[in-house]
Amino acid sequence: MAEPARITKSHEQHRVLTIRGKSYCNSACIFCIEKFAGYHPVAPKSDETLQLILEGAGKYNMLFFMNGEPSVHPKLFEYVKLAKDGGFRYFGMSSHFRTFADPHFALKVLEAGFEFFDISLHASTYDAQLEVNPIDDGGRSLKEALHGLRNIQEIARRTRRRIGVTHKFVITRMNYRELMPLFRSTYDLGVRNFIMQPVKASGLQPEVAEKLAINEDEFMPFVNDLLRRTEGLGAEIKLYGMSQIGAYDSKDLVQESNLVKHVSSKRNLRLTLDLYQGDRIIPEQAAPSDAVAHKITVQLPNMEQTATFTCREDQFILNAALASGLGLPFGCRMGSCAMCCGRLVEGTVERAPQLILTEQQMEAGYTLLCRSRPRSDCVITTHQDGELGL
Ligand code: SF4
Ligand code: FES
Repeated sequence: MAEPARITKSHEQHRVLTIRGKSYCNSACIFCIEKFAGYHPVAPKSDETLQLILEGAGKYNMLFFMNGEPSVHPKLFEYVKLAKDGGFRYFGMSSHFRTFADPHFALKVLEAGFEFFDISLHASTYDAQLEVNPIDDGGRSLKEALHGLRNIQEIARRTRRRIGVTHKFVITRMNYRELMPLFRSTYDLGVRNFIMQPVKASGLQPEVAEKLAINEDEFMPFVNDLLRRTEGLGAEIKLYGMSQIGAYDSKDLVQESNLVKHVSSKRNLRLTLDLYQGDRIIPEQAAPSDAVAHKITVQLPNMEQTATFTCREDQFILNAALASGLGLPFGCRMGSCAMCCGRLVEGTVERAPQLILTEQQMEAGYTLLCRSRPRSDCVITTHQDGELGL
């Protein structure tokens, strides 16, 4: 078994500027919201990306690429050079790793300063890979990706570079029963960091969404099975974008502790905000509780839509909103990305630990709905992440 490429220099305490949005990729994962969602923010064009990097200098110490397939982006190394000049210290990307099957390119990426990698791999057999990524290659993109993983780890070892590889897999109706073999497919190659996140199918074509969408009640037993069977194996596991209600409390379960600012193009057409448009990833069955309940009213910034639901004092407002049928925006659900940010107009909340909001912003009423429990009836304006000036 390969020597574990454990993240020796954890990238946990970083302020991360993450470039994301629709951009070129030579894979075609059927759940890819960037490629196939009816609407998805586009990635910033090169001039915009250069501007975002310049504006981010001094505010962030890590630049992370998550737009399309960064390893095939023609300006990747130009962006890294500019960012280094601007004081960015760390670099990372989310990638399908197929490009790293070319050892020369893998070395070039390491020499450019990339240390942190998310390998985006969602199947562990050729057949399943072909179903997830139907690019008419018999599923061999899986072999390329694993070959790329071996390459980048081996070259890093030989050139005495410490790197961190995290295996990120999207849980769908197609793979939720195969989480253990998926985990082993990279664990056995030395990966020790894992992110599991449920598919966001709401923006996909109805027939694709039906094939992929799955609710927490269905996949959590398999997530818990993996957490139990992997406990003590030295792997760190993050449950991204799910409520974690009923999650097995493994000692290897970790929460996000980076501040992560996601940026896409400012050119994005103004999306028509809708309180009901979104993914409701929440257990259908609410756990019984006799905690005091409060009335929560949420309103769009343009006041064109309002909705009211009940939230108990032991519930996060985001979870109660999703359970009531709303589709409020969210990302991490761990207090590190601000996608769920709202602003209190009336009422009080108790805030769980979070990484984003300053005292001043909280005094101004900003609150992360994934980390806030009501202490009275509340009125909240949603979609406030853009107001934080992160
Ligand atoms: S590798 Fe990533 S960007 Fe490319 S299609 Fe798959 S999910 Fe989308
Ligand atoms: S969803 Fe990321 S901070 Fe709430």
